[in-house]
Amino acid sequence: MKLLVTGGAGFIGANFVRYVRQHHPAVRMIVLDKLTYAGNRANLAGVLSDQVQLVVGDICDATLVEQLMAQVDACVHFAAESHNDNALRDPQPFLESNVIGTYTLLEAARRYDVRFHHVSTDEVYGDLPLATSDTAARKFTPESRYLPSSPYSATKAASDMLVHGWTRSFGVRATLSNCSNNYGPYQHIEKFIPRTITNILAGRRPKLYGTGRNVRDWINTADHSAAIWAILTRGRIGETYLIGANQELDNLTVMQQILEAMGQPHDAFDLVADRPGHDRRYAIDASKLTHELGWHPQMTDFRAGLRQTIQWYQSHEAWWAPQKAAVEAEYAEHQQ
Ligand code: NAD
Ligand code: DAU
Repeated sequence: MKLLVTGGAGFIGANFVRYVRQHHPAVRMIVLDKLTYAGNRANLAGVLSDQVQLVVGDICDATLVEQLMAQVDACVHFAAESHNDNALRDPQPFLESNVIGTYTLLEAARRYDVRFHHVSTDEVYGDLPLATSDTAARKFTPESRYLPSSPYSATKAASDMLVHGWTRSFGVRATLSNCSNNYGPYQHIEKFIPRTITNILAGRRPKLYGTGRNVRDWINTADHSAAIWAILTRGRIGETYLIGANQELDNLTVMQQILEAMGQPHDAFDLVADRPGHDRRYAIDASKLTHELGWHPQMTDFRAGLRQTIQWYQSHEAWWAPQKAAVEAEYAEHQQ
């Protein structure tokens, strides 16, 4: 099998490429990545070879996309602008990459009859109320209504709709997955967990938005990779699968677990202004994936996964340190 992996030099894409290399070494891959601020050739260090090739380019470039699609059996589409705070400052690149980019790939997949897997997010469903005895059992399911709250999630919702439309009307052999918050190695330091870890490592106080009561449902990115592989190879065409590991935690708890694991006092952080439109709670019901495809998360001890992630950032300072000052200056400019 030969795969086109878009966004394979980003966080989840690079972890997926590494997962496939390790578990399915006969698979050949072309990574198509624009190397935006979030993409990094170093994320594929030790993986690039005759078998895994990196093409630096834009998923909106129809000529290039067609050329690559003509060479592969399947496409796993990760490439996107992915950070909510950036979308609040400037949504335009999100429309380009997430909407036009997905459209461009779907047109090429249609032309060359390439199996297509679209990687999406639980944020397309908006948010859930914070858990009380009445609402704790509520989770997103594949039947949940699309109700995105942010510019980022609105563009991801639009891209999901394009996938549905191209599957139904043009017969594109597509599947779709909506996953909860990932953590693990190679995640850009703009995101909550790596930002917090690297702030502590760099002697800066980490920042907690609003009250810290917002809840995210954390999954280790290795489990996300395994789920995507299961859907790509055994999922039913036209279906949506939700991916999550049942690890709901509020942000204050995650902050305090990181501080504790790094030997810091529990209150060694700053509360800062809340994110506009901040989604309250995400929670995933992944039972369709577990029942149909037998997938189960392996990394179910969040504290252990967090310790591994902290160790990764401790031992990869050269990977993140050059960007630290600029990322924090950007946050400071927008008072977060
Ligand atoms: P990321 O920002 O770390 O990586 C995105 C990658 O896409 C980068 O390498 C970037 O260079 C590339 N890219 C962006 N625009 C491009 C373009 N126009 N052409 C080619 N390449 C382009 O993102 P991530 O966190 O790895 O997310 C990957 C995918 O997974 C996204 O589609 C995101 O919506 C989805 N997702 C993310 C999470 C999460 O928790 N991070 C959860 C669920 C779904
Ligand atoms: O749910 C899946 C989504 O998870 C993906 O689709 C997105 O691509 C991914 O970025 C992530 O979105 P979030 O907005 O949930 O992730 P982020 O890491 O930006 O923030 C996680 C939570 O932590 C959120 O409630 C905001 C809060 N936060 C974030 C930062 C950067 C803080 O409290 N402090 C911070 O410094």
